[in-house]
Amino acid sequence: MSLTIGVDVGGTKVAAGVVDDQGRILEKLRRPTPSTNPELTAGVIAEVTNLLKAKYADVSAVGLGAAGFVDETRSVVLFAANLAWRDEPLKQKVEKLTGLPVVVENDANAMAWGEYRFGAGRGEEHVVCVTLGTGIGGGIIVDGRLYRGRHGIGAELGHVRVVPDGRRCGCGNRGCWEQYASGNALSHEARDLARVEPGRAARMMELSGGTVEITGLAVSQAAHEGDPAALECFDTVADWAGQGLADLTATLDPALFIIGGGLSAVADLFLDRMTKVYTESVTGRGHRGIAEIRIAELGADAGIVGAADLARQQ
Ligand code: BGC
Ligand code: NA
Ligand code: ZN
Repeated sequence: MSLTIGVDVGGTKVAAGVVDDQGRILEKLRRPTPSTNPELTAGVIAEVTNLLKAKYADVSAVGLGAAGFVDETRSVVLFAANLAWRDEPLKQKVEKLTGLPVVVENDANAMAWGEYRFGAGRGEEHVVCVTLGTGIGGGIIVDGRLYRGRHGIGAELGHVRVVPDGRRCGCGNRGCWEQYASGNALSHEARDLARVEPGRAARMMELSGGTVEITGLAVSQAAHEGDPAALECFDTVADWAGQGLADLTATLDPALFIIGGGLSAVADLFLDRMTKVYTESVTGRGHRGIAEIRIAELGADAGIVGAADLARQQ
């Protein structure tokens, strides 16, 4: 049995696992994402070495899925909108400290690969993965291959501008899709609402320790309790997400969208509405085939499994 390690470095957490060649996770670790570097790189290395120490001395390679722009040689994280990495030579550093071959991939690409190989995308050749988390990640499978673009930075679907002069984005632009349809967008909506209508936002504020700095988790919990203001925040995000999928269909015409990321854990709060908006917005509707929308089957583990499998294929 050949084992590899996959690490998913997202804006909120760093999750790592030992994975076998059937995509099964044997052991998993996670920690909050350090907001500064070199702590971030050190955290990734600590998770890998802890897994190796535990009892998996026979691990043969490491795959790192990073929430940022990865160079075409799959070695360096060039830039990340929601992480502290800038021109970080991640492959070199992790290889040096673990003695194992390392491949670096974009986190959403890794997730897409994991779902294509072992999850909701099995058997489909045209798959678009969208992760709704801190930001929005994209991963595109075309004809059964992961699409990376000329410079390795393809499929940055979260940074498509959907609002001219819109909200500021960590990428330096304004109006990016990830400012309107991500987990962060959800709390942005809630905070906006709380400033203007604090009375209606009372429950969400209470669940956020009594402040207007409402968290995504508080919005989800309030929405599950039936709180109308929280449900309204979810509706707004669902509308932006559905419209975005319709726009992606105009360019990519996939068979399937797979929705992952933190928000996919509360899909009951937005999937139906997002799918309806998608169906009603797609160009040529009524005269064409459209994509199916599924939630990631591997859930929060998809990035770990995908990164580990990409490492095995190197
Ligand atoms: C980054 C992507 C990443 C996504 C999800 C975006 O802000 O630009 O590289 O895949 O967040 O983590
Ligand atoms: Na991507
Ligand atoms: Zn952006």
